Amino acid sequence: MLSTADPLSIDASDLRIRRVGEPTRRSPMVRLLHGRASSPHYVHESDRVLLDDTVGSAVAHQCAVGDLPSMEPGGPREYIYFDPPLTRAAIVTCGGLCPGLNNVIRGLVLELADNYGVTEVLGFRDGFRGLVDGSEPLPLSQDVVADIHNRGGTILGTSRGGQDPGAMVATLERLGVNLLFVIGGDGTLRGAQRIADEADRRGLTLSVVGVPKTIDNDIPYIDQSFGFQTAFTRATESIKSALTEASSTPHGVGLVKVMGRHSGFIACYAALASHDVDFVLIPEVPFQLDPFLRVLRDRVRQRGHAVVVVAEGAGQELFAYDGAVDASGNAKLADIGPLLREAILTDFAAAGTELSVRYVDPGYAIRSVAANGWDAVYCLRLAQAAVHAAMAGRTAMVVGRWHGRFVHIPIPVATGGRNQVDPNGDLWMSVLEATGQPARFS
Ligand code: F6P
Repeated sequence: MLSTADPLSIDASDLRIRRVGEPTRRSPMVRLLHGRASSPHYVHESDRVLLDDTVGSAVAHQCAVGDLPSMEPGGPREYIYFDPPLTRAAIVTCGGLCPGLNNVIRGLVLELADNYGVTEVLGFRDGFRGLVDGSEPLPLSQDVVADIHNRGGTILGTSRGGQDPGAMVATLERLGVNLLFVIGGDGTLRGAQRIADEADRRGLTLSVVGVPKTIDNDIPYIDQSFGFQTAFTRATESIKSALTEASSTPHGVGLVKVMGRHSGFIACYAALASHDVDFVLIPEVPFQLDPFLRVLRDRVRQRGHAVVVVAEGAGQELFAYDGAVDASGNAKLADIGPLLREAILTDFAAAGTELSVRYVDPGYAIRSVAANGWDAVYCLRLAQAAVHAAMAGRTAMVVGRWHGRFVHIPIPVATGGRNQVDPNGDLWMSVLEATGQPARFS
């Protein structure tokens, strides 16, 4: 698994976007396209977005500029593939919750109806399960989605786990679905790829377009995943509570555990947003207990209190792994929060130092809230980009924003690695600068 996305391991052919056919119909969006040209914020449909925008990478590739690995830009096309009145779309949401799911659903439905005239949209219930269990999909009219963007969760329901691609494609064929929008994380997107491949094998004209969803912000080649901003902002409230508690009791330690299975972005961003945190522990930077406890004791003595933010996947090396996985195939993690709490209590007691630990675990509270303003905008724009791509006949791809531009990313590239905090990178450096903690506890 890549520790961070590695653009040098990807070549131009990996970034080619599949099509179900050639787009030959003039798009209804053409009225808005007149006079559009590339700008620092927008890339024309005939242009490309460089995968790596550093001079160093261009030099390392040793090829002509036009042959550098680059991505197809997102956005409306002059020509589309599908005939709107004859097109039927479907949406499915999978995996854990994430702020903004309803915004994406609503954005898809309204973009399809308002700007392309596609009014037949079905919502499969409870993730991929809804494509095989015989349940009736929910017809998603403009009325049905009218005010869902003000709510957290997903009106379609969600679940973990894949299903047989043959059975899913059979359902899509039976229902006459031409466009399938899949909102989910890496496991879900691999499932979407299998659906696109199976449809292809059967000669079925089906565009499968994903909107990557990950509260942990761990999908590569996207600047940031939707809902992430809302989630870490919510996590800062818990840090604030922990700080208030810790600083109001003699030798108080506020310990906050946040989500982040293999990637500590929520912990880092929430800590930086608070700028009141003494220690951040993330999965990407293994630590040993004794050195950590020693430094924590010193900090509490000097400052009178301390706040520790720990990502749920941090410190897994302190436990023996029993091999258990969840329905998505993710390793079931040991609970680092209580272990740290006990270790801190034991250590301070052994040192004869007074202590009160305030343990806060916001858990699901950070991902079940409605999207904030920034994420609401992002979700809508991702949904618009997904509709443009699908209507133009693109398939087996996801939409994302990369270096500020909306792009099309082949699913194998988006699921071929994991976005993680680089222990030698600038984000972790900012955390070290803000907390004053040592680079390693070992
Ligand atoms: O993968 C996203 C995530 O939010 C992780 O941070 C967390 O470990 C996991 O989902 C928990 O989800 P659930 O309890 O729904 O399986």
